[in-house]
Amino acid sequence: MTADVIRFEHLAWTFGSGTLDAQLALQDASLCVRQGEVSALIGPSGAGKSTLVAFANGLHRPRRTGQALVLGCDTGDPAADLGALRARVGLVLQYPQLQLFERFVGDDVAYGPRQLGLSRPELRSRVLNAMSLVGLGEEYVDRRTFSLSGGEMRRVALAGVLAMQPEVLVLDEATAGLDPAGRQKIHELIRTLRANGTTILMVSNDLDQVAELADSVTILSQGRTVASGPVRTVLADREMLLAAGLAPTHAAAVAEEISAHGVSLPGDVLTASDLEEALWQKLRR
Ligand SMILES: Nc1ncnc2c1ncn2[C@@H]1O[C@H](COP(=O)(O)OP(=O)(O)O)[C@@H](O)[C@H]1O
Ligand SMILES: [Mg+2]
Repeated sequence: MTADVIRFEHLAWTFGSGTLDAQLALQDASLCVRQGEVSALIGPSGAGKSTLVAFANGLHRPRRTGQALVLGCDTGDPAADLGALRARVGLVLQYPQLQLFERFVGDDVAYGPRQLGLSRPELRSRVLNAMSLVGLGEEYVDRRTFSLSGGEMRRVALAGVLAMQPEVLVLDEATAGLDPAGRQKIHELIRTLRANGTTILMVSNDLDQVAELADSVTILSQGRTVASGPVRTVLADREMLLAAGLAPTHAAAVAEEISAHGVSLPGDVLTASDLEEALWQKLRR
């Protein structure tokens, strides 16, 4: 049996609750991530994705409604040990500036593992390893954190989380603002971590990326979960995607365009390699 690493049920969240400018962000959001899988959370801007993933390490905790269970920890329980949870669940925020605070990159990446009582050489190798995983060479150690570009800061924030070697990694739009090479690097990283047994929850606005990388997907629209399940099933439901304010993947759109011009292709084309395969099948006949 594969255990649920994250189980959110019927969560709700209002920012500035009880004030004049209260903002309802989540109304009925549920999500499940199983041990060892890559799960994606998608939805249009403002759907509540960032609000929801903040429940993964107790940054937000259930108030009156719903339940958040993460690695067996019920974060709604006032006695929950959030410190222990945060050492096991790494959350990379959508806006990395909010996560960085040390003047030099090396110190920022070392901040978490420094609390673990490692020897100096162990600490140094953890930091350099984590940096190299995100494509930051040793020369970045002494760079000033806040002089970096947005994409570089994003990678520093990610390295800081990876240096903790978390069992669960939550990435909130980790590839936003990166160039294609940087994006590719993150894709490889996600695949490597998955192969090593890390459970991953990734927020993304890029359905092509999700089709390539994720096993399962949850769709959030206006604070509600509107679909969830295996990627192939959920992303094949065009009407639901459109109703949720999302567009099908590029390959699915191209396949539909080709079919509309009289060359019928299977309806389950999702990725570029699916499309390539479907076209080869046609040409061979
Ligand atoms: N700190 C905040 N204070 C008030 N409202 C917020 C705050 N953060 C997010 N919101 C609002 O909550 C809703 C959901 O936001 P968010 O979770 O960031 O969506 P997403 O990540 O899907 O784009 C939006 O309407 C947003 O304006
Ligand atoms: Mg967001």
